[in-house]
Amino acid sequence: MVTKEIIDKLHEKNYLNEEEMLYLLNNIDEENKKYLSEKALEVRTMYYGKKVYLRGLIEFTNYCRNDCMYCGIRASNKNAKRYRLSIDEILNTCRKGYELGFRTFVLQGGEDTYFSNDIMVDIIKRIKNDFPSCAVTLSIGEKSFDSYKKYFDAGADRYLLRHETASKKLYQSLHPNMSFENRIECLYNLKKIGYQVGAGFMIGLPNQTNEDFVKDLMFLKELEPHMVGIGPFIPHKDTPLSGEKAGDLNTTTTLLSIIRLLLPKVLLPSTTALGTINPKGRELGLLSGANVVMPNLSPIEVRDKYSLYDGKICTGEEAAECLVCLKNRIESVGFEVDMGRGDNVDWKRNA
Ligand code: SAM
Ligand code: FES
Repeated sequence: MVTKEIIDKLHEKNYLNEEEMLYLLNNIDEENKKYLSEKALEVRTMYYGKKVYLRGLIEFTNYCRNDCMYCGIRASNKNAKRYRLSIDEILNTCRKGYELGFRTFVLQGGEDTYFSNDIMVDIIKRIKNDFPSCAVTLSIGEKSFDSYKKYFDAGADRYLLRHETASKKLYQSLHPNMSFENRIECLYNLKKIGYQVGAGFMIGLPNQTNEDFVKDLMFLKELEPHMVGIGPFIPHKDTPLSGEKAGDLNTTTTLLSIIRLLLPKVLLPSTTALGTINPKGRELGLLSGANVVMPNLSPIEVRDKYSLYDGKICTGEEAAECLVCLKNRIESVGFEVDMGRGDNVDWKRNA
C-alpha cells in the first residue's frame, strides 16, 4: 500500500495495524501530510463543527514527590521556587475564570502529598457547589483506585494522566522509582470509575523513535480515552535533559492528525508546549485536527514558578489578556471559540 492509501484506510476504518502505522510515519511527505491534515479536519468538523473548547488551567501546586527526568518541577530541582495555592485562592481563581466565561476548570499540579484525599474532596465539592454548571478536570498524577473514586464521587468529571510514552523501556529511563504498569493501570481505573479520561505522550524525547510512536498510537486505540494530550518535549535548564533537543512541530502536527483519525470524537488540545516551540504552533495544531485549547488561569504571581520547560509562553499575561489573544488566534484560522463545558460527544455521567 502506498502512503495515500494508508491514510484513506485510517480515515475509513479508524484503524491501522502496526506495520501500516510505522510505514506512514516513516514515509509521509509534504503532499501526503497535507492530505492527512485535510482528512483530520473533515472528521473534526463532522463531530465538533468549527468549535474550539477552552479549558481554564489552574496550576495549583508545583510541589512534587516524583523526579521525572524531563520535568522542571521534579523533586530534586532545588532551584524551583515552590508554591501551593490555598483553597480560597483556588476558588477565587475559579470565580475569575467563571466571570470570563470558562465552564471547565482543570486543576493541575505535581504529586503533592499535602493535598490529602480529604483536602482534594473538599476542594472539588466547593468548586462544584459554587459553580454547578462547570466541569472539574483533575490532573494530579497517580493515585489509588479508592482515591480516584472519592474525587469522582465528590463531583470531579474528568482526569488527565498522560501515559508519557507507551515504550516501557523509554518510560523506565525517564521515571526513576515509578512503574509503567501502575501508570497504565491508573488509566484503566479512571475509565472504570466513569471519568472522561485523557491519556497522551510527549514528542521528541531523547532516543524516541517512530516505533515508540506506533506503541503510543496502538495503546491509545486500545484504551480509547475521551481526551488525548500530546505535545513536544522541551528541555528545562535544571533537569538532567537540559542539553537535549526539543520535539518538532512537524512530527507533533502529523501525530495530531493521525490521532484525530484514529479516535474521531476525541477531545484533542493544541498545547501550550506546541505554542512554545513555534509562534503559530497552536494555530497549526488546530488546523491538524485539534479542538481544545487550555489557557492559563493561574494567578500571575505563580505563573513562572510552574516551569515545566524553558521558554513557556503566557507566563506574563493576565487570564483576561490570554483569553483575548487566544480568541483572535483561533478565529484567525477559521474556528470559533466555545466556552461551554465541551464534554466528549459520547460521554454521559452515570454516577
Ligand atoms: N503530576 C501530574 C502528572 O504526572 O500527570 C500532572 C502535572 S505534569 C507537570 C503535566 C504534564 O507536563 C506531564 O504529563 C508531561 O507530559 C508534561 N511535561 C512535563 N515536563 C515537560 C517538558 N519538559 N516538556 C514538555 N512537557 C512536559
Ligand atoms: Fe512531578 Fe513533573 S515530576 S509534575
